[in-house]
Amino acid sequence: MNSDEMKRLAAAEAVKLVEPEMTLGLGTGSTAAHFVDLLGERVRAGLSVRGIPTSDDTRRRALAAGIEIIEPDETTVIDLAVDGTDEVDLRLNLIKGGGGALLREKIIASAAKRFVVIADKTKKVSELGRFPLPVEIDPFSYGLTVKRIRDAIEGQGLPGKLRLRPGKEGAPFISDGGHYIIDCSLERIHDPAALERALVSIAGVVETGLFIGMTEMVILAGPDGIEILK
Ligand code: A5P
Repeated sequence: MNSDEMKRLAAAEAVKLVEPEMTLGLGTGSTAAHFVDLLGERVRAGLSVRGIPTSDDTRRRALAAGIEIIEPDETTVIDLAVDGTDEVDLRLNLIKGGGGALLREKIIASAAKRFVVIADKTKKVSELGRFPLPVEIDPFSYGLTVKRIRDAIEGQGLPGKLRLRPGKEGAPFISDGGHYIIDCSLERIHDPAALERALVSIAGVVETGLFIGMTEMVILAGPDGIEILK
């Protein structure tokens, strides 16, 4: 089974959690894309649900799959959000944002009654940090904000190598919300909650890719089948 087949297997398991008339948070990335496609199959077979996409890419994909889309401000209830991840540790803390959609993903995941993560088994780690942590910042005076991010990371005793995420034609990557992303190579994040607190307290930091204590369940797929972390 290749990596894409594992992602689809995890997505298929998550689709089983969907019930009629649910309002769903639809994640972003290649694993979440499988969830959207498989959900679309159920919708075309008669299932009635509504989806709130976490990115413009997911919106296009969900519409193409025939899923009814609503805007986040059209509801105060999200029954279930399903998304991929870049890393998950054994406490179900995550690093997300490799695809640049971390802000909207975090808004939806934190508002949902249930947040379920789907991934192939390579995303499971004993300690977060091998994947560079994305930090979304306002472009205004980004140099000042980056300096403060560096200070905060050093204050946590972490070796911080920071990089402004590049976009097209040499310009910085711009998120759907109009922000820059700083990718922080930290190697091992010993205390993700403390790092999160230090980073979000910086004016100019919009969000970080650390998702702490939000995940109810992780569905991991590997060559041997499904593993559930709760
Ligand atoms: C998008 O910003 C990310 O948080 C993705 O959910 C994450 O990068 C996982 O992506 P894949 O499913 O493509 O690995």
